[in-house]
Amino acid sequence: MVFHFPGVKFDLNTIKKYDTSTPRYTSYPPATQLSEAFTESDFHAAIATSNQRKSPLSLYFHIPFCQSACYFCGCNVVISNNKNIAKPYLDYLVRDIKKTASLIDPERKVNQIHWGGGTPNYLSLEQVEFLWKSINQYFTINSTAEISIEINPHYVDKNYIFSLREIGFNRISFGVQDFNPQVQVAVNRVQPEEMLFDVMSWSKKAKFESVNVDLIYGLPYQTLQSFQQTIKKTIELDPDRIAVFNFAYVPWIKPVQKNILQDALPSPQEKLEILKMTIEELTSSQYLFIGMDHFAKPDDELAIAQRNSTLKRNFQGYTTQGQTELFGFGSTSISMLEDTYTQNYKELRDYYRAIDAGVLPTSKGIKLSWDDMIRRDVIMGIMSHLALHKQDIEQKYHISFDEYFSLELEQLKFLEKDGLVKLSTHHISITEIGRLLLRNIAVIFDARTITQEKKFSRAI
Ligand SMILES: C[S@@+](CC[C@H](N)C(=O)[O-])C[C@H]1O[C@@H](n2cnc3c(N)ncnc32)[C@H](O)[C@@H]1O
Repeated sequence: MVFHFPGVKFDLNTIKKYDTSTPRYTSYPPATQLSEAFTESDFHAAIATSNQRKSPLSLYFHIPFCQSACYFCGCNVVISNNKNIAKPYLDYLVRDIKKTASLIDPERKVNQIHWGGGTPNYLSLEQVEFLWKSINQYFTINSTAEISIEINPHYVDKNYIFSLREIGFNRISFGVQDFNPQVQVAVNRVQPEEMLFDVMSWSKKAKFESVNVDLIYGLPYQTLQSFQQTIKKTIELDPDRIAVFNFAYVPWIKPVQKNILQDALPSPQEKLEILKMTIEELTSSQYLFIGMDHFAKPDDELAIAQRNSTLKRNFQGYTTQGQTELFGFGSTSISMLEDTYTQNYKELRDYYRAIDAGVLPTSKGIKLSWDDMIRRDVIMGIMSHLALHKQDIEQKYHISFDEYFSLELEQLKFLEKDGLVKLSTHHISITEIGRLLLRNIAVIFDARTITQEKKFSRAI
């Protein structure tokens, strides 16, 4: 069987060739490169240097708890029905905020806030208000800031949604994943259609500025036809943004995924067909295709950022706030300053112990080399703008692109033969089929990752 795309025919061997274990490049170097050699005192130094740059702030708050386990989940979560565990966590989180904020120049204002998880709506409304007040106590938030929260639609009612809007959230994101009942059962995430339409209508009535829906393709029992139905229902839901994530199947890292039957997963070829259909359906409705896996209405800020070439990528995916520096709070969260990435402890007991000891809860990190920064710009250019002007890199880093990347350009010629890229004297541009395989193009410029079987999820 052959996979057709405008001007390109992909046979099974070509698909297999590109279905390799590859990072998702929400960062470069990828988070797997963070090491314990980077310590709490390195993070202190990084914050001090960051204060001199005076850039605005983006803040991420991680709420790790979930009431039940979704079998697809690749996130860092704590599953518990005992809601009492949230109380001590919030107390430690506020101590983390207080300590870190004391090191950040108070002149630096906040442009973006995101609460993720886990499930932020694991918290009661009182707890949400408590955390919100604490954030406001230690940071100055710009009146135009984007303030977003991830929600599991199963655990909200109308009052919760309206209250979030009143508290100050102006963006909301729902994990829908798939509408098909068989797929929902297979991933232990059953959410009736009526419920999804209800939460969407409440969010619209509450006047959130942007409503996002997450879908995942590549889940067990998905077929081209079944996912087409999911896409059609999603279009009916009418969100402003849609993220269509490629299922990262890594059961050797996430044991909960062992509940998923490997035989029930669609093949790489079916997944490419599903992705192609998804792009066709959504772009022939009103959505624009953003980066690798996002779709947005033309007036949504994500679409505007893509048009203005200001779209950036960070640990949460695509963002419009590229000029900010990201500080992460809570277990496992990552801070992304200009040339350092720092991750907090994953285990709650380690996170609590560090805070009790009066130190920052840094577990590991990385300081980027000059070479890392050059490669990061190239990789993020590919992932966000789908094109690279060699001159931009040459002017910023005072290098000759063709000399610096002579080996990479040789490798890219093979991808050009397969129709993924177009190479010219001044540009590298990504073709339509290349857009489905952006990770395979980006990995050519990755000097750190040895593509290892069973390290990352597969590219297709
Ligand atoms: C932190 S998660 C969960 C958000 C929210 N708590 C919920 O339950 O809907 C954010 C998103 O990551 C995506 N996700 C989680 N695990 C994934 C995986 N293994 N592969 C691809 N996407 C994944 C899902 O679409 C999910 O909505």
